[in-house]
Amino acid sequence: MSRVLILDYGSQYTQLIARRIREERVYCEIQPAERDLDWIVGWAPDGIVLSGGPASVYDEGVPGAEPGLLELGIPVLGICYGMQLLCHVAGGRVVPAESREYGYAELEIVRDDTLFRGFEKGERTTVWMSHGDEIEEVPEGFEVLGRTPTSPVAAMRARDRDIYGVQFHPEVAHTRRGEEILENFLFAIAGCAGDWTPGSIVSTQVEAIRDRVGDGHVICGLSGGVDSSVAAALVHRAVGDRLTCIFVDTGLLRKAERESVERVIGAHLGIVLDVVDASETFLARLGGVEDPEEKRVRIGHTFIDVFEEAAARHGDAGFLVQGTLYPDVIESVSVHGPAVTIKSHHNVGGLRPDLPFELIEPLRELFKDEVRQVGRELGLPEEIIGRHPFPGPGLAIRIIGEVTRDRLELLREVDAIYLEEIRAAGLYDDIWQAFAVFLPVRSVGVMGDARTYENVVALRAVTSRDGMTADWFPFPAEALARISSRVINEVTGVNRVVYDVSSKPPATIEWE
Ligand code: XMP
Repeated sequence: MSRVLILDYGSQYTQLIARRIREERVYCEIQPAERDLDWIVGWAPDGIVLSGGPASVYDEGVPGAEPGLLELGIPVLGICYGMQLLCHVAGGRVVPAESREYGYAELEIVRDDTLFRGFEKGERTTVWMSHGDEIEEVPEGFEVLGRTPTSPVAAMRARDRDIYGVQFHPEVAHTRRGEEILENFLFAIAGCAGDWTPGSIVSTQVEAIRDRVGDGHVICGLSGGVDSSVAAALVHRAVGDRLTCIFVDTGLLRKAERESVERVIGAHLGIVLDVVDASETFLARLGGVEDPEEKRVRIGHTFIDVFEEAAARHGDAGFLVQGTLYPDVIESVSVHGPAVTIKSHHNVGGLRPDLPFELIEPLRELFKDEVRQVGRELGLPEEIIGRHPFPGPGLAIRIIGEVTRDRLELLREVDAIYLEEIRAAGLYDDIWQAFAVFLPVRSVGVMGDARTYENVVALRAVTSRDGMTADWFPFPAEALARISSRVINEVTGVNRVVYDVSSKPPATIEWE
């Protein structure tokens, strides 16, 4: 299997490089820029990509590259800062550009070369730039492959070796033919095979887990979301009934969520399931609490208590499954600060690090969309695979103000009608997340001849790539009309429905 090493210099696009390479069915990993030559040689990459980064090669204490990297005989592609670093290490000149170049640029191909196979010499193509420094003079033995009106060296290579640099970002979709350029590097230059699929982790993980676990027992905390379900299904394939999944019903779940987990994970996949009904405990601990962060903290602590108690009942288990994904791993290995920022309050549901279990993290090499592919291969239904993300604190952060049993019940009904109508309209997969929010506000209405004074609920639906930014979803008016009239007619206690038309930023997706 071919493998490409991505050395991370802290670009916001580093993960994107990895995703693009994996889309070409080439396995790759992001590693900190500090990896030394011995480590790199031991990892045996077919190609190396140096990511972009915010630094300047002349700054003090900035991550560098060892000159020996260029002598390994392994093809290298430096992107943006990565290219400047290659230039610097090989003896060229990098200087601050007169002005920072950010945005689209026209790249002119000035020399026929494998990196631009499929392009004509003299051809122009749109690329995405984001840099402050630029290359004034290529190192000896290098030649210019492309330029833009403002960057005389927008692409370069070493004449006698497969060392390449591009000033622009081929991994960003704004670079119109970036995919072709990356393909040229991967296949024509680095000789990669393109035979990897996310599913190939199934057999290797199953074997590795079997080896590790032997005839031991494993437990897994199941949330009902994609990650923990896929992780559980994978471990189940390896150890069968020696896996027990613990599902904590916090009482803050959506309608029929627990039944769905029991049906899919328990009945359909045949995984041993320990369902712990802790709804009373959660409700009691949330009594009188209005502050969103305080809700999160209490839910987090309660979850740990309940889970540990349940885990203790499976005292013979030596292993705990966690659905850690690749972005979390990169976050923790990256030396120059995270390429992505995961909000700290999103860790609810995290367990104490000193639990007496060995961790099994079978998805730690995968991105979210890859996890979905693996889930499909493992036979998980779309009901789980295509599910919108659901926050750990659940409905508690969708009830503004105090969480009470009545409010939870009301919200669950509204939310269920909302999602049912979204599915019926065929819109579920177009939306990233959709949910209802209970507002502690009463408004006047009229029903029949009588005046009513009841609750308001807000509906939220957004489109997003990763939850970091989001746009409100433009529902067809008929769909909103149907949802609103069903909610008001069918849910006692609601006489007004409003739709949230705020984007993130400045609003967040959740209301709390
Ligand atoms: P915000 O509201 O910050 O949400 O725009 C971004 C994404 O994160 C989810 N979210 C959470 N997930 N615990 C979680 O597990 C939390 O405390 C939490 N708060 C927000 C939110 O649903 C959205 O997908």
